[in-house]
Order: sequence, then C-alpha cells, then structure tokens
Amino acid sequence: MINKNIALLTGGFSKEYEVSVSSGRVIAENLDSALFNVYQINITAERWLYLDGSSAVEVDRNDFSLTIKDHKIRFDAAFIGIHGTPGEDGKLQGYLDLMNIPYNTCGRTTSAVTFNKYLSNELVSAWGVKVAKTVYLHRRDEINLDSIVKYTGLPCFVKPNSNGSSVGVTKVRTIKELQPAIDIAFAEDDEVLVQEYITGVEITCGIYEKDQKPVVLPLTEIVTANEFFDYQAKYTQGYSDEITPARISDDLSKECSEMSLSLYRKFNCRGIVRFDYILTPEQNGNKREFYFLEVNTIPGLSEASIVPKQAAAKGISLNDLFRDIMNETLLHH
Ligand SMILES: Nc1ncnc2c1ncn2[C@@H]1O[C@H](COP(=O)(O)OP(=O)(O)O)[C@@H](O)[C@H]1O
Ligand SMILES: [Mg+2]
Repeated sequence: MINKNIALLTGGFSKEYEVSVSSGRVIAENLDSALFNVYQINITAERWLYLDGSSAVEVDRNDFSLTIKDHKIRFDAAFIGIHGTPGEDGKLQGYLDLMNIPYNTCGRTTSAVTFNKYLSNELVSAWGVKVAKTVYLHRRDEINLDSIVKYTGLPCFVKPNSNGSSVGVTKVRTIKELQPAIDIAFAEDDEVLVQEYITGVEITCGIYEKDQKPVVLPLTEIVTANEFFDYQAKYTQGYSDEITPARISDDLSKECSEMSLSLYRKFNCRGIVRFDYILTPEQNGNKREFYFLEVNTIPGLSEASIVPKQAAAKGISLNDLFRDIMNETLLHH
C-alpha cells in the first residue's frame, strides 16, 4: 500500500497561533509515519509554508500542491490543526472543498456556525439545552450599560462572539468595569456578547467519529485557581487542574454525554469536537443543570490539552486516535 500524503495545516491568523503550533507538534509526532507522509504547512496571513529541513517551500494555492526539487506533491487529505481563523471558522474548509481535498474537521457550514457563539447558543437553546442569557452587541450599536446589566445581572461575562482561548474575555463585577470589558472584546471582534454569569463547575465532553460512529470520551472537570478558565489557566502549568473522569454522578455524566452526542449529530459534526458546559450546584432545592458554553470544532491537541487526556483515560493512544480520524477522513469524506 502506498502511503497517503497528508497536509498538516497549522498556525493561523489569530492569537491562538502559538497554541496551534503546539497542537501541530503533537499531531505531527503522532500521525503514523508507516501510513502517512505528513507535510506540515504553516499558514499565516502572508504565506503558506512547508519547511523542508533548511529550505522553505511555498504552497501553490491554485491547486494546493508543493513542488519540491522539481517534484510535484499533491495531497490525499488535510489535517487542520488551526484554532480560530481560518481553520475553525469554515474558511479553510471552503477552500479545501473547492480543491476537492477531504479534511479531518466539521464541514464549512458547521464550522462557521459553531465558531459564532451567538448563533450556536441560539440553536442549542432551540434544541432544548440551557444557555446563559445573552446580550448581543455589534460595533455599530449604541450601548446602554444600564439596560445590559438589568438583563444579565452582575457579575456578567463579556466576550468576543468569534474567538477562542479566552482571549478578550472578562468577568465583570461592577457596572464601572463593563465598558472597559466591552472595549477589550471589541478589540478582537466586531460582535461582542455580554452574558449572565453561570456559577458552577466546568465540564467538557470530547467526541470523535470512528467507522462512521461517534465515540464519546470520558468527561473532564476543570478546576482553576483563577477567577475563570482564562488564557493563563489554560496554558500555564499549575493554574488549572483538569480531572478526568469528572467527579460527578453517573446520572449527570450520562446526561452530559447523551446531550453532547445529540448536539454532535444536530450540528452535523465530523472529527474531534469538544462541547463545554457549566454544571450548576444544587441550590434551594433546584437540581443541577448543564448550561452549554460553547463547542470547539478544533479543540487543542497539545500535551497540555484536554482531549488527549480524555483519550488516554479511555486507553486510546494519540497514534490510534489520529489514525482513526485520518482513515475516517480518507474513507468517508
Ligand atoms: N456565562 C459565563 N458564566 C461563567 N463563566 C463563563 C461564562 N462564559 C465564559 N465563562 C468562562 O470563560 C471561559 C472562556 O469562555 P468561552 O465562552 O468558552 O470562550 P473561549 O472560546 O475563549 O474559550 C470559560 O471556560 C469559562 O471559564
Ligand atoms: Mg472555551
């Protein structure tokens, strides 16, 4: 059997560039070289570059090929490892669709919709899952701080609509802090959300597809010493504890897994996807409930990331995981 040529796409245009490079390193190390010829291509706004030892080769974007020493290399599939734009929001998916190259992630429509927190929250809510009360702001809107706070209460959360890694996210305690937080979020995006603060424990559920069937990974509970799961807590050792399996009852665990599976199907997901929630505490006789936070269609895959730990907890090596993902991509898409 001839090895398949895989373009591993990393980098990207957002502040998650470094995270993507870390994920890319782990993906490259664990994509089985007995099965795949992996060409890691770093994408920035300026260039799409393959680093061939000492020399750099630019991708020909007209036909998605590389020419190395007069030899033209074409790809059987792409493994997108870019968090944020253009890997997680449908742009590369659209390009690869045009080039007729299968890829490891959700399709372009699912990617675009799930990268939009406002739209995906509206959908998830219509599908019967709880979401935080949200005020949507566009850069062109006039902002009335009092009426926002009246709706969301305090504290509240301010975040860019389309972003990741908690970049531009602020927990706001007083109305005085609201406008500066909105400004921070608008520095990242033209659309900003102000959300009701949901108290509880963060629970996340990873799912991937194998042999056309979704496999649910063990749930993870996130415990952080910081105010919330911010950039520092996500990427600095010692600032958060990710406990897998989550320390919740079997009933709650089943509820979360089934809900995530249902969302995976409804959003028409492919590949590795992570659904994030906040599970509220039992209060005044109210039962615990999952509030949907967001869906990550290109979750982190670095050593520090959650999905690799969830896979390990189920006895799945990264080698097996990435091989299954790639085989699924090559066979069924
Ligand atoms: N409505 C909310 N209530 C409580 N905490 C929140 C809320 N929204 C976000 N957070 C906190 O902020 C973090 C980042 O928010 P999230 O919406 O997941 O954005 P990102 O895509 O940047 O990860 C979450 O993991 C959580 O810790
Ligand atoms: Mg998040």
